[in-house]
Amino acid sequence: MMMFGFITKAQYNNMAIPDTLSGTTFNLNIKDTFSQIVASGNQTITAGINAKFWGPTLFINKGDTVRMNVKNGLNDSTTLHWHGMHLPAVMDGGPHQVIPPGTLWQPYWKVQNDAATYWYHPHLHEMTMEQITKGIGGLIIVRDEVESALPLPRTYGVDDIPLVLTDRDFSASNQFGLVPYGDSMLTNGTLRAQYNVPAQVVRFRVLNGAIERSYNLGFSDNRTFYIITSDGGLLDAPVAVTSYILHAGERVEILVNCSADSGKSIDLKAYNSKLIQNVAGGDLFPNGPFANFLARKDFNILHINVVAQTAKPITTIPTVLRTITRLLAANANTTRYLTITDTIIVGVQGVAFVINHKLFDINYDNYDVPLNNTEIWEIKSTSNFGHPFHIHDVEFNVLSVNGTAPAAAQAGWKDVVFIPARQTVRFIAKFDDFADPLHPFMYHCHISLHEDEGMMGQFIVTSATSGLSALSKDQGSFTLYPNPSNDKVYFNFADPNAKVYYITILNLMGKAIRMLPQPEWQNGIDVSSLANGVYFMQVTDEKTKTVITKKFVKE
Ligand code: C2O
Ligand code: CU
Ligand code: CU
Repeated sequence: MMMFGFITKAQYNNMAIPDTLSGTTFNLNIKDTFSQIVASGNQTITAGINAKFWGPTLFINKGDTVRMNVKNGLNDSTTLHWHGMHLPAVMDGGPHQVIPPGTLWQPYWKVQNDAATYWYHPHLHEMTMEQITKGIGGLIIVRDEVESALPLPRTYGVDDIPLVLTDRDFSASNQFGLVPYGDSMLTNGTLRAQYNVPAQVVRFRVLNGAIERSYNLGFSDNRTFYIITSDGGLLDAPVAVTSYILHAGERVEILVNCSADSGKSIDLKAYNSKLIQNVAGGDLFPNGPFANFLARKDFNILHINVVAQTAKPITTIPTVLRTITRLLAANANTTRYLTITDTIIVGVQGVAFVINHKLFDINYDNYDVPLNNTEIWEIKSTSNFGHPFHIHDVEFNVLSVNGTAPAAAQAGWKDVVFIPARQTVRFIAKFDDFADPLHPFMYHCHISLHEDEGMMGQFIVTSATSGLSALSKDQGSFTLYPNPSNDKVYFNFADPNAKVYYITILNLMGKAIRMLPQPEWQNGIDVSSLANGVYFMQVTDEKTKTVITKKFVKE
């Protein structure tokens, strides 16, 4: 185990800034690769998306329909989950939307989320920790009219700076260890990161992308900084703090006023010596697989050099941001009671952290949530450890943490909430849109190790009209034309009201080449990029979910 904190402490590396992609069509190639993360010696075996570690930051606009071309270039199956996005379950990229190696997965959705910082990452059952450790993931920045109208810094990489926080363990040959806590801090994949920021108000978009660790953010001169977002959008007003604990999966955007600091350096640090023992990173773990050099220590996240102001700088912190319309407990239709416990499970070593006394079962539907329900989820933990709880599909409002109202910075829209050891948290969410009897949404602990070990459950959003209905004879029968085709393939359905739920294009070996959830089949399916040859078009009917396969020829 090499401990980089000891060695060249005074030497900094210029922090990488992830590339950007914008528009409405995004090509994401997930691949195995290598990266020179450690300055000397071997490259590290990594994985990335269009990059050697991590992936591009996607800029998307609320109201746009965005289309993703996700190519799995790994040797393994994977998934890509759009964390925080409100979208159909079949597009969500959870453990049920597996992309086989070599396959192109083409989800798309209309962006309904408010402006904030979201992210995407793999979510393959029992493989999430390993695939995130290798470096697969990326940020999503949603823009909307409300945020755009505010006097906030928004020049990416200049005064609006992404900070993806994680830590890794390196072997003597510079390879990642598959462990929940690393010995070395990585900020945007950079060890001992430094960055130049202009002498004005600077915005940092901070993601806790760690496997397990929480980071207690603060500046070396104990200066005040301002929290402007929670996971799912702007707060009502900036919240002034001198420290803030960010748990795995959470995002926060902060403003720091560096107007008077030209020529100075300050450090953004993790004051993790202040974490209590049952918060991830606060425990010493003197030996064993959890032992790590950063445990219960203060360490640098970013060495900041303040340089000259830019043209048109933002120099003041706004006093108001927007008015949040929160969900009201009085309007809830249902309260669900969940537990988090430390449980002895036969066949599992030590205690397992579990939700509702059982390990995740990918074939078990834990809850049916009626479409348009407003629900309170009350999560009562008797665990001796704190767990960041995440739910897919929705953003929620925290109602209470151990009986008291949430802190101001937690009082907006969130999709991860920290459940402190032996406490109860209540949140409220509305489950509008996206009923689907086949594809569930997940909820889980966002510590990837716990999630992989089974600290997860799932729910189906149901509606009266979305149930599986009886098979009728001619439903789903269709012909393809033109066949052969070199460009687009169209459908001729026997049933004029037919709808398509899913299309998978298979090659002659039966291998999935392309997966198109809820495709816009009326416009024809573009097959121009396929190599000439014989293929199968496997079509799942929207209503009956029956699958019919037809042969076609690309020429
Ligand atoms: Cu960020 Cu279910 O995950
Ligand atoms: Cu998620
Ligand atoms: Cu956990």
